[in-house]
Amino acid sequence: MSAERRDDHHGDVRAPGHLARDATPSELRAGGEEADVGVVIVAAGSGSRVGGSELKQFRWVAGKPMLLHSVQAFHARRDVAMVVCVLPKAFVGDPPPWLFQCDIDRLLLSVGGRERTESVANGLEDLPDEVKVVLIHDAARPFVSDATVDRVIAEARGGRGAIAALPVVDTLKEVDDDGRVLRTVQRASLWRAQTPQGFPRDLIEQAHAKARSERVTATDDAALFEQLGLPVVVVRGSERAMKITDEDDFARADALFAVSE
Ligand code: CTP
Ligand code: MG
Repeated sequence: MSAERRDDHHGDVRAPGHLARDATPSELRAGGEEADVGVVIVAAGSGSRVGGSELKQFRWVAGKPMLLHSVQAFHARRDVAMVVCVLPKAFVGDPPPWLFQCDIDRLLLSVGGRERTESVANGLEDLPDEVKVVLIHDAARPFVSDATVDRVIAEARGGRGAIAALPVVDTLKEVDDDGRVLRTVQRASLWRAQTPQGFPRDLIEQAHAKARSERVTATDDAALFEQLGLPVVVVRGSERAMKITDEDDFARADALFAVSE
């Protein structure tokens, strides 16, 4: 990440009505056990493949704005100490009001970067001190499964990076520019990476610091972790965790999940 781009980052912004952090210590929220999971939800993309005047992460899907699904899902967990939502700069000062339909004591807003990697790095910087395990999640995957999150956290607590993922079930073909099949790709060892991805905080911070200094970006955070030679494992994700990428995905998600809650 370049120095100029870092200058764009104006730090965290407290949600309106935000209580002082020590008004609700994490020990109380976790029912005696320290809540030590920090979540960075990246929602600072421009949604260019969907297009339209409204950002895809703010559009309604299955009964509520896309981003609100994941914010509420993480806030429902007692082990989550803080959710940092990374938003396009213009929305950090003027967030959509529905965003506060959550536990605003555990909500921070950060400014996104030009690339997803920068948005994640900005969110990581705003995590509070008590966070030991970090989950990184795409707002574009609104249907978060608690069981998947459990598995990701368990691995990350064991010192590894962990990716929610699914094994590839389709036969894969490598083709040339004319659509001619070059070969069949062995799929047995191939998995589709989803989010959340979880990491020990110190290690993911190191991975992002290295990426920044080398100006490297990646489509997921595990790739940065792998580049440090650190271990990453897959845990079973879910078909529910589909990514909303284009217009058709909205209709598909609405059909599959109707109104949740
Ligand atoms: N994202 C982000 N900051 C960026 C780019 C992407 O926070 N500079 C977030 C998106 O908001 C999304 C997630 O990363 O939640 C995955 O990105 P993607 O699905 O590609 O969303 P967009 O980049 O917004 O869409 P597109 O690539 O079609 O422009
Ligand atoms: Mg994108």
